[in-house]
Amino acid sequence: MAQIIDGKAVSAKVKEQIRKEAAEIKKQGIEIGLAVVIVGNDPASRVYVNNKKKACEEVGFTSYEYTLPEETTESELISLVEKLNGDDRVNGILVQLPLPKHIDENAIINAIRPDKDVDAFHPQNVGHIMIGDFNFLPCTPAGVMELIAETGVEVCGKNCVVIGRSNIVGKPMAMLLLHKHGTVTICHSRTKGLAEICARADILVAAVGKPKFVTPDMVKEGAVVIDVGMDRDENGKLCGDVDYAACFDKAGYITPVPGGVGPMTVAMLMRNTLTAAKIKNNIM
Ligand code: GUN
Repeated sequence: MAQIIDGKAVSAKVKEQIRKEAAEIKKQGIEIGLAVVIVGNDPASRVYVNNKKKACEEVGFTSYEYTLPEETTESELISLVEKLNGDDRVNGILVQLPLPKHIDENAIINAIRPDKDVDAFHPQNVGHIMIGDFNFLPCTPAGVMELIAETGVEVCGKNCVVIGRSNIVGKPMAMLLLHKHGTVTICHSRTKGLAEICARADILVAAVGKPKFVTPDMVKEGAVVIDVGMDRDENGKLCGDVDYAACFDKAGYITPVPGGVGPMTVAMLMRNTLTAAKIKNNIM
């Protein structure tokens, strides 16, 4: 039977540390600000953005929300990003993805000043992550690393399998596991023998975006199973990429959905925003 990794509890601990540090910094008259930009009416994005704003309140940051209509053009959005790049109140800029189809996401990510890029999506920050010399960690992978640390299981020397190769999760996730000396395999839709590869994983991270994709035959007895998915099952109920109920007895540790990785992503965003403010104000 698996032990449940409680992402809500771990994220509350992290946010409390951030709140204390932010309160100390505030004594020097420094306000920490995060700009959150959302374009269009995607309901899931709305929920994520609200969670990010709420977390700002919890840790004592000021959030600046920019809600733009679906028909916003790429150049209008770039103009807003450029304005925020130059706004001294804003330490971090987050443009919620996905963007409407007519906007090139890369063009927007490239427009964000790297020292305000608290998502760590800008190629400059991606490069820093690749060589292991970074200020900002990508939020979801960083949150996953915290959850793995919480289990007490060492990554060093372990078989780590990441399912999914997105720029936001899969690729940086593999990099962070590699930095901790894991033996990392990245699986994706064209991987042959995916189930057998997963079944050898001591640490399995699922980031595929397919409901209940990971079944017990893909889980090694006692493995750490981390579920990055936020999907809907056949009844429209929120679920993850892992068939949680079916894998529960086989895994050693498992994250629930909701209440696993999601809250950690937000906590890591707060940490990156704090880091941005500290660097700007020469507090280290
Ligand atoms: N959409 C889904 N996850 C993320 C994230 O971590 N950051 C941003 N900006 N958009 C997202």
